[in-house]
Amino acid sequence: MLKLGVLASGRGSNFQAIIDSIKAGYLPASVSVLITDNPGAYAVKRAEDNGIPPLVMSPSGYPSHDSYYAAVADELKRRGVDLVILAGFMRVVRKPLIDAFRMRIMNIHPALLPSFPGLHGQRQAVNYGVKLSGCTVHFVDEGMDTGPVIIQAAVPVYHDDTEESLSERILKYEHRIFPYAIKLFAEGRLHVEGRVVKVLSHSKEDAVVVNPPLDG
Ligand code: GAR
Repeated sequence: MLKLGVLASGRGSNFQAIIDSIKAGYLPASVSVLITDNPGAYAVKRAEDNGIPPLVMSPSGYPSHDSYYAAVADELKRRGVDLVILAGFMRVVRKPLIDAFRMRIMNIHPALLPSFPGLHGQRQAVNYGVKLSGCTVHFVDEGMDTGPVIIQAAVPVYHDDTEESLSERILKYEHRIFPYAIKLFAEGRLHVEGRVVKVLSHSKEDAVVVNPPLDG
């Protein structure tokens, strides 16, 4: 069974969605460890409540960012992790971790990449005035939110949206597509060709864009 290592910095609602998907029998995986850079993260409580060992690793304890990510990679390897999940991990991951888990690190971003990378993707979308935004699950490469896109969900942006209201609308889809992307990986259905991820489909429902219901 696929072993996940989850990295999270805060609330951990995506982490919870993954835990719930495993418990529901939807996702054939287990979580071997939660690594956080923030000892106060609510994700730590979620790990404890679900029998997942939490591990606090802060970059301040290491001489460089590279040595920090090398240590994180070692912890993940030591636990036999197959796939690394960035679930609201608010740092740019560096080469030692990326090299150790090439195309085996997934991130969720709250915008339709390549639009609005970096921090506050939802705020950027509201301020820019786009009429559609959403979320993206992608493999992680050396760039800032630039890796191959696995799946995206689109939601409308209304003229009276705030960062908060849009974030809430997007988050519901984050919780759907992240477990789904991991499931596709677990089933061996993701093939990366250059920067294009091919989803080996069983049906048209596996189309890469999940749209909100037309009457929603
Ligand atoms: C999520 O909206 C996630 O997409 C975003 O942080 C939030 C974490 O929420 N990630 C990024 O912005 C990464 N650049 P959560 O802790 O409840 O899962």
